[in-house]
Amino acid sequence: MEKILFMNCSPNKEGNTYQIGEELLKGKEHEILYMVDYKISHYGQVTSDDQIKDIFNKIKDFETLVIGAPVYWYTVGGLLKTFIDRLYMLPEAEILRGKKLYLFAQGSGPDSDTEKSITFLANRLSTLMGMELKGVVVDSSDGRKIVNNMSID
Ligand SMILES: Cc1cc2nc3c(=O)[nH]c(=O)nc-3n(C[C@H](O)[C@H](O)[C@H](O)COP(=O)(O)O)c2cc1C
Repeated sequence: MEKILFMNCSPNKEGNTYQIGEELLKGKEHEILYMVDYKISHYGQVTSDDQIKDIFNKIKDFETLVIGAPVYWYTVGGLLKTFIDRLYMLPEAEILRGKKLYLFAQGSGPDSDTEKSITFLANRLSTLMGMELKGVVVDSSDGRKIVNNMSID
């Protein structure tokens, strides 16, 4: 099984989320999955061009997921949130079980409630999906806090 998959959940493929994730993973073998390259239908509105199963197919080969998202409106951006919504009642989501999860979110200046709610989300997500949460950091877009406080095994 391959080791690290960086799931870039920003619509800006080479924006701040990408830059921070790449700095965090410097020197570590990893692949990048750009969530914006996939069509993820909204929960309850799944269309025939939905590609969530392609995402599961990619994820299944990795032991560790590093999820990076921008902060939009005081929480994680919609690309990640829509993906998380879809995990509900989807049998394929079982492939997440046992994987290690690191989650970071960055914004132009997330407040402490944003930090608390994203940390809570990461904890609940990992518990409910049977993943091992190894780290969660919320930071402003310079990313120092993320790079300095998240050490990836
Ligand atoms: C629609 C939208 C909403 C945003 N809301 C917040 C916010 O609530 N708090 C915050 O700190 N930053 C907010 N931002 C700023 C982004 O999180 C910030 O620019 C981030 O670094 C963008 O990452 P990217 O370059 O990977 O797209 C928002 C940006 C957009 C486009």
